[in-house]
Amino acid sequence: MTTDLNLPAGVEPTPAALLLLGRRSDPDSERGTYCPGDLPAASDPGLVERARAAKAALGDKVFVLGHHYQRSEVIQFADVTGDSFKLARDAESRPDADYIVFCGVHFMAESADILTRDDQHVILPDLAAGCSMADMATADQVAECWDVLTDAGIADVTVPVSYMNCSAAIKAFTGAHGGTICTSSNAERAMRWAFEKGEKILFMPDQHLGRNTAVLKMGLSLEECVLYNPHKPNGGLTTDQLRAAKVILWRGHCSVHGRFTKSAVDEVRERVPGVTVLVHPECQHEVVLAADLVGSTEYIIKTVAEAPAGAKFAVGTELNLVQRLGAEHPDKTIVFLERTVCFCSTMGRIDLPHLVWVLENLVEGTVVNEIRVDPQTARDAKRALDQMLALP
Ligand code: 13P
Ligand code: SF4
Repeated sequence: MTTDLNLPAGVEPTPAALLLLGRRSDPDSERGTYCPGDLPAASDPGLVERARAAKAALGDKVFVLGHHYQRSEVIQFADVTGDSFKLARDAESRPDADYIVFCGVHFMAESADILTRDDQHVILPDLAAGCSMADMATADQVAECWDVLTDAGIADVTVPVSYMNCSAAIKAFTGAHGGTICTSSNAERAMRWAFEKGEKILFMPDQHLGRNTAVLKMGLSLEECVLYNPHKPNGGLTTDQLRAAKVILWRGHCSVHGRFTKSAVDEVRERVPGVTVLVHPECQHEVVLAADLVGSTEYIIKTVAEAPAGAKFAVGTELNLVQRLGAEHPDKTIVFLERTVCFCSTMGRIDLPHLVWVLENLVEGTVVNEIRVDPQTARDAKRALDQMLALP
């Protein structure tokens, strides 16, 4: 996988994991940033007007997509909003738009590039908008895992099911090995499809979505799911454990949803009598078990919207979305499940200054922060994404 980072002469990619506010990039990671030119100051009172003017000047040439976890200052300029499944479909829906500005994270922009025409430009306003979960599975680790499954004699009966939240390289691996991508809104359908094709599933990289779907939706037992640790020889598993497993879960997690705890569920039930606890399936298994309802971002929004006035919800997902739900439904009680702050810091990298910077550059005819997946990777990854879009 390669991503065009537009590095200027003399700026070397760095393997450093932490590139906070840096001007360098790490092409092997979801993290990394380079921002040529000057960003408008965040304190500029004219930013909203500038974004409006630039968007109007671009007209139908630009299509702005916004994930639900984006800041409200950004979401107000999105032509469409959605969860990662909806946005993958929406990305394809405007083949006439020259520029697709993706207000989300890097793996989503990569998927949009794969699904759109070659002459469309997909732009991520801040290249540091990565995903720590996607970084938990690298192409080398996944290739090594497949060797382990091959040595155990189970690779030919194993179907990879990869969560959308992974790099284009992992999506390509999935496509090349007859698997499918899934999102939190179709993981059950993806697993059912995979079990019709093979005997076992390699589910990457979110262990929680994989486990919650396998156990709570598919009726498998916890013992039928094993955890593959890419940092241990053989994934930390014996050959017998691998052969006995139905689902091999990659040891990855979301650093935002992984923070919700069972004690927070117990605490909110005491604090808010009659509350419905509604969580995302990226949460830990014990949290999902303790909750009343579980579903993707789009499901959470719909559930709150359709509830009668006076309904009370404690929501376990990204804080930007929970705050927006509260503002949009003043007739309902919406509380955040944890007491501690739980924003997705990388989603939050896309702010109004970056959006204005991108749009004004486009008005000048300059494409900045373009995300391009190399053709070979894109071809295999598209097979896996198309398979997801075709799931029954
Ligand atoms: P969905 O958009 O599928 O709900 O996933 C949530 C998420 O964590 C996106 O990064
Ligand atoms: Fe990644 Fe979690 Fe942020 Fe989604 S919410 S982008 S999975 S870190």
